Amino acid sequence: MCGIIGYIGKSEAPANLLKGLKKLEYRGYDSAGMAVFDNGRLAVAKTSGKVSALAEKVRAEWPGERFARPPVGIAHTRWATHGSPTSLNAHPHLDASGGIALVHNGIIENYRALRARLEAKGHGFLSETDTEILARLIGEFYSGDIFDAVCGALHQVEGTFGIAVLCAQEPDRIIVARRGSPIVIGVGVDGECVAASDASVLVEHTQRVIYLDDNDAAIVRADGVEIRDLDNVPVTRAVVGLDMAPSAAEKGRFAHFMHKEIHEQPEALANAIRGRLDFTRATAVLSGMGTSPRELSELERVVMVGCGTSLHAGMVGEYAFEDLADIHAEVQQAAEFRYRNPILDRRAFVVAISQSGETADTLAAVREAQQKGAFVMSLCNVVGSTIARETGRGVYLHAGPEISVASTKAFTSQVVVLLMMALKLGRGRRLSREDGLALARAIDGVPALVSRVLEADPAIAAVAERFVEGEHAFYIGRGLMHPVALEGALKLKEISYIHAEGYHAAELKHGPIALLAPGVPVVAVACDVPGKDKTLGNIEECRARGARILGVVTEGDADTIACMDSVLTVPPAHPLVATIPAVVALQLFAYHVARLRGCPIDQPRNLAKSVTVE
Ligand code: M6R
Repeated sequence: MCGIIGYIGKSEAPANLLKGLKKLEYRGYDSAGMAVFDNGRLAVAKTSGKVSALAEKVRAEWPGERFARPPVGIAHTRWATHGSPTSLNAHPHLDASGGIALVHNGIIENYRALRARLEAKGHGFLSETDTEILARLIGEFYSGDIFDAVCGALHQVEGTFGIAVLCAQEPDRIIVARRGSPIVIGVGVDGECVAASDASVLVEHTQRVIYLDDNDAAIVRADGVEIRDLDNVPVTRAVVGLDMAPSAAEKGRFAHFMHKEIHEQPEALANAIRGRLDFTRATAVLSGMGTSPRELSELERVVMVGCGTSLHAGMVGEYAFEDLADIHAEVQQAAEFRYRNPILDRRAFVVAISQSGETADTLAAVREAQQKGAFVMSLCNVVGSTIARETGRGVYLHAGPEISVASTKAFTSQVVVLLMMALKLGRGRRLSREDGLALARAIDGVPALVSRVLEADPAIAAVAERFVEGEHAFYIGRGLMHPVALEGALKLKEISYIHAEGYHAAELKHGPIALLAPGVPVVAVACDVPGKDKTLGNIEECRARGARILGVVTEGDADTIACMDSVLTVPPAHPLVATIPAVVALQLFAYHVARLRGCPIDQPRNLAKSVTVE
């Protein structure tokens, strides 16, 4: 979604801001802009479309060295919420004087009321955005101290914000603040400070960062940071290490981040597993769960919450917890969680699953679960993310930065961590040593399984060539392969724009089968795990209607292969881990279909990497 960067330091602001915006591109956006100091006033450049268009505009309109002193500015990539993606609606927005510029992530929920109040005072507005209203409001509060003005205005705001503010009268500082939308500050190294909504922007400037908490505001100067709350009371926030290599945000030998991240999975999975399996006790060691054996044995339910791909990982987790730990498990769509007044108490173990750790709905579910006294933990990839910090206890995926909007390595890492959690819970309950050990060994073998699927990349690309045309596809699976079908369909639709729907294979004949026509592709996930025979029956129902069947099947399963028109084969695996190679094959399939269709794979239209609005 929207991205923010603020730079104050020693080298030209526009160049640093553009570099930062480039790094934010992966989050998904539809317009971009920046504001910098220009001889005692603010210069603003905005455009609809890509950062490259903004860069051209800046080069054309702001030639020369004008911005060398003082080198300070703020910039933004906007994912439209209020108003279409035009350059007028792009950020930054200015106050009435033109001396204060604001970039904003989040949503001002009471913007209509604020707008009416400002209109009554004679304000006119140039854009359709809620952000311009906040910019005007800050201007209303300004009487010589931009920090005070920002805090004054934010006290009037309902909703969420991560903001950066620049004031022509006070060129030695950028003001940042957050509520519900992340802001992280790279602490001054050599007279330079960078603040952003995403730590990946900071990595080339510093490895020492401060994550703001909700209702924190900060004065960012070239030589340091002062953090206060919105009532101007100083607060202390820890400086933490980033542990992120600048090269993590490069594509290397791959044409797309998605392809790179698919191929990083053996390593990502090895990182997720490393040191977490105990073969002597046939269990998993996940200290971040923060649960004592007694607490574990008292749990009565596992409730996972997540959205999109993370929701699908939770569906695999459901099977694992019930099967291994003999405990009732369910996964709920996070957006609905708080509105359905969930029944929770301290015997409920709530697991928030989120790659980014910033998804607004998942964060809201966490807060609701905490409010109700549940035992809440997180399963996040991004270290220091809001969900990870607010839950306090959790297990990191350690999958490395996931840049492509389509989630790949995060899904497989989520599944493997959920399996380890279920193993741990199971061994504290009724799971036998023998079964625990079998699963531990299977989990340990996952990176190698995935490497074998990746070896088939060229073969999968060849199969994909036969599925490039067409506007619809069905994905079906049963049991553990049902979430795999849902995830496979999600991958295909988000990056190739082919309308793909995943169904439980048995559900097809209760309605969706009406849509089947000769030649329509049905991707049947029919790996050799319990439930396969029933899936084969459902495949016959599709074949009888002329559908073209692409099977995801286990190597050597000749009878199943014979039922398919084309196949993606995966190595045999323990039923609980078999989801992982199957998904990897479908990730590659979706990738190649989208590539052959010439789609913008890493930044699909309308999508954002982390969905920080409700
Ligand atoms: O960061 P999160 O895991 O919380 O994100 C949840 C979804 O927005 C995300 O998985 C989305 O569905 C992906 N684009 C799927 O590839």
